[in-house]
Amino acid sequence: MPLKIIRDDITKIKCDAIVNAANPSLLGGGGVDGAIHKAAGRKLLEKCSTLGGCRTGEAKLTKGYDLPSKYVIHTVGPIWRGGAAGEEALLRSCYRNSLAIAKDKKCESVAFPLISSGAYGYPKDQALHIAVEEITAFLLNNDMLVYIVVYDRRAYQISEKLFDDISAFIDDNYVALHGAPNIRRSVQAEANGFPGICPAPPLTSALKKEADDEFSDTAENQTASLWEPAVRRPKSAKAPAFPTAVREDLSDTGMIFEAPQDKQSLEDILKQIDESFSEMLLRKIDEKGLTDPECYKKANVDRKLFSKIRGDKSYRPSKTTAIAFCIALELTLTETRDMLMKAGYALSHSNKFDIIIEYFITNQNYNIFEINEALFAFDQSLLGA
Ligand code: APR
Repeated sequence: MPLKIIRDDITKIKCDAIVNAANPSLLGGGGVDGAIHKAAGRKLLEKCSTLGGCRTGEAKLTKGYDLPSKYVIHTVGPIWRGGAAGEEALLRSCYRNSLAIAKDKKCESVAFPLISSGAYGYPKDQALHIAVEEITAFLLNNDMLVYIVVYDRRAYQISEKLFDDISAFIDDNYVALHGAPNIRRSVQAEANGFPGICPAPPLTSALKKEADDEFSDTAENQTASLWEPAVRRPKSAKAPAFPTAVREDLSDTGMIFEAPQDKQSLEDILKQIDESFSEMLLRKIDEKGLTDPECYKKANVDRKLFSKIRGDKSYRPSKTTAIAFCIALELTLTETRDMLMKAGYALSHSNKFDIIIEYFITNQNYNIFEINEALFAFDQSLLGA
């Protein structure tokens, strides 16, 4: 996993370089600066006093001395003054200059704190977003393992709106599974030849009454398949070509249907039944017109692991790796389920991780680094490998 978000004390991280959120004097201070100087010992201060300070946005290298890391890259983040004093550009250059020094010293791994998000007052969600954006841009063209080290939960915030949206989506889906009677119904849409299972509409009381009236435990309903809990999208969401009748009586629920990306012949479908995970992965990469590196970098998977998967037809990835590739390929929920099944996994509504993944896929947000920011905020495993 080229970019990992971890909770730890950066002075404990054993990697080639750790980055210090310093002040222009480079003579130590509080926060992560104080912790690094304390752990590195007085030789660090002696060295720093010869460097002539450092300008905001720039970075300077020293050895790690008593630290487990070989180097310390000292960078000075901007003090937050409301956002109109060029703070963002300066913060971005902290990451770029630090990564450039790490690359120049042929570091294979580097750890960053969330620069400026402490004493310098940079809004934490924006500080995180800038860190992730700059690091992922660097990783598109460079092979390096980069950690974002979060020291305390309070220091870590994703945008409030995103956090609230995901929390609501989790509540909806958990409720649909545990708190309300299952609505058992499947709707086969005849036109356009797409037999589909509609996701359950939001469970309003009227709908619940209709469901109770309409569905008794008669035999024919035993075969009906369980409705997926509601997936609500803005009404503007483009529903695929479905019979008008079906769409009209459901359109007010803001529902969407998963239409196949393309009509497949019976022969294609039969050919794919015994396709392994890695065969399906390589087929999908071709179908999406991606190169291998584009795919594994979008999946936050390192090159070595991808080569292993490519070379072994029966390779069985971890669930987080399998989902990472589904995200990189920007698969629909149905395609994601198909691909996960090839690796022996399913998306279920009995755990937050799966529901958060479903949230991002149904909202067509395939930025794996934003997804990882959210997963980390909800204490879940991250995507990639
Ligand atoms: N490991 C990892 N992260 C840490 C650690 C640690 N040991 N200690 C603090 N942090 C986190 C904070 O929680 C915050 O998210 O580092 C982030 C940056 O906070 P600060 O250290 O306060 O740095 P910054 O906001 O850039 O302010 C720099 O503070 O320490 C002084 O001398 C420094 O004047 C400079 C200013």
